[in-house]
Amino acid sequence: MARFHRLRVAAVDRLTDDSVALTLAVPPELREEYHHLPGQHLTLRRVADGEEIRRTYSICSPAPDGAAPSTLRVGVRLVEGGAFSTYALKEIDLGDELEVMTPAGRFTLPPAPGLYAAVVGGSGITPVLSIASTLLAREPEARFCLIRSDRTTASTMFLEEVADLKDRFPDRFQLVTALSREEQQAGLPSGRLDRERLASLLPALLPVGQVDGWFLCGPYGLVEGAERALRGLGVSRARIHQEIFHVDSGPSAPAGSSAAPAHSTVTARLDGRGGTWPVQAGESLLDTVLRNRPDAPYACKGGVCGTCRAFLVSGEVRMDRNFALESEETEAGYVLACQSHPVTEKVELDFDR
Ligand code: FES
Repeated sequence: MARFHRLRVAAVDRLTDDSVALTLAVPPELREEYHHLPGQHLTLRRVADGEEIRRTYSICSPAPDGAAPSTLRVGVRLVEGGAFSTYALKEIDLGDELEVMTPAGRFTLPPAPGLYAAVVGGSGITPVLSIASTLLAREPEARFCLIRSDRTTASTMFLEEVADLKDRFPDRFQLVTALSREEQQAGLPSGRLDRERLASLLPALLPVGQVDGWFLCGPYGLVEGAERALRGLGVSRARIHQEIFHVDSGPSAPAGSSAAPAHSTVTARLDGRGGTWPVQAGESLLDTVLRNRPDAPYACKGGVCGTCRAFLVSGEVRMDRNFALESEETEAGYVLACQSHPVTEKVELDFDR
C-alpha cells in the first residue's frame, strides 16, 4: 500500500539550467518501505495556499541490491508554469523535508542477462539511468544500448552519469545521442528522432530482433513514434515497455457508446478496508473514492503515471485515456481509477491487488 512519509533533502545538484537532482535521506526505520526496482518513481506532495499538488518523479539512482536504500535520488525538470517543479528548482534546499510516497511504477527491469535498449527524450533519461546502471553493475551478461534525444548538450540531464556508464562498461554500454537543435562533432546529425528516422536508424545500430526488452520514455510524441517504428520492424508488443512523461495533446479514448447510468455506485477496497459510495455525475471513480477515502493513491490524475491503478472486480467502466497500463494489465482487469467512469450501475474496485 502506497504511503507518504517525510524525507529530508540530503543534496540538491543542479544538472542543467532547468533541472535538478534531489537526493532524499531515508531513515533506517523506513528503508524497507522505500525498497525499489530500477525504473520506479516517487510521488511528491505539497500543500500550498490550501491546495494539494502531487507530482511524480522517477528515481535515477541504481536500485539497491539486497540492503534497502539509505538515499533516493530523483531528477526534476522545470515545466513552464509547473507548480511543483518551480518550487523544486527555486525553493527546495538542503535539510528541507518533503512528503514522499513509497515507490511505485511498472516501468522496470529486474537485472537479467540479455540485450536491452532504450529510446528516451529529455527527462525520460531519469528512470532509464536507474535501469541501465543497475543492470550493468549487477548482471555481467547484460548489454544496454541507450538512444537519447535532447535539444542541446547544455539542456541534457545526467550527462556525467551517462558518461560514467560509458567509462565503466565500455564493451557493454552503447550510447547514441541525437540533438534536435545543435550539430555534434560526433554522433548523429541534428534533428528530431521521429518514427521514420528511428525506423532506419535502429537496424543500423543494433540487431533489433535480438533485443530482449525495449524501454521508451519521454514525451508522448517520441514514445509513440518509437513504438510505431519498433512495431514496423517486427518487434512484439510484449518486448516494448513505455513510460510517458508529458501528454500535451495526446488523443483521448473515444467517449464510448455506452451511456453512463443515471445512478451508480462504486465499492472500493483500499488498504484492507472497503466502502460503497454513490458516483456523482461526470466525476471519475478516483474522485468518488477520494471524497470518502482521502488516502486513495494518485498523482497525475491524467492517465499517465499509473499510481491510481486498481483491479476491476465487477461491473464495467469506460476509461477516458490510458498512457500508463500495458495491454496485459488491462486484459488482466486493471483500470486507471482517475480515468474511469461507470458504465454499469455497480462497479467494484480493489486498490490492494
Ligand atoms: S493518477 Fe496518474 S494515472 Fe491516474
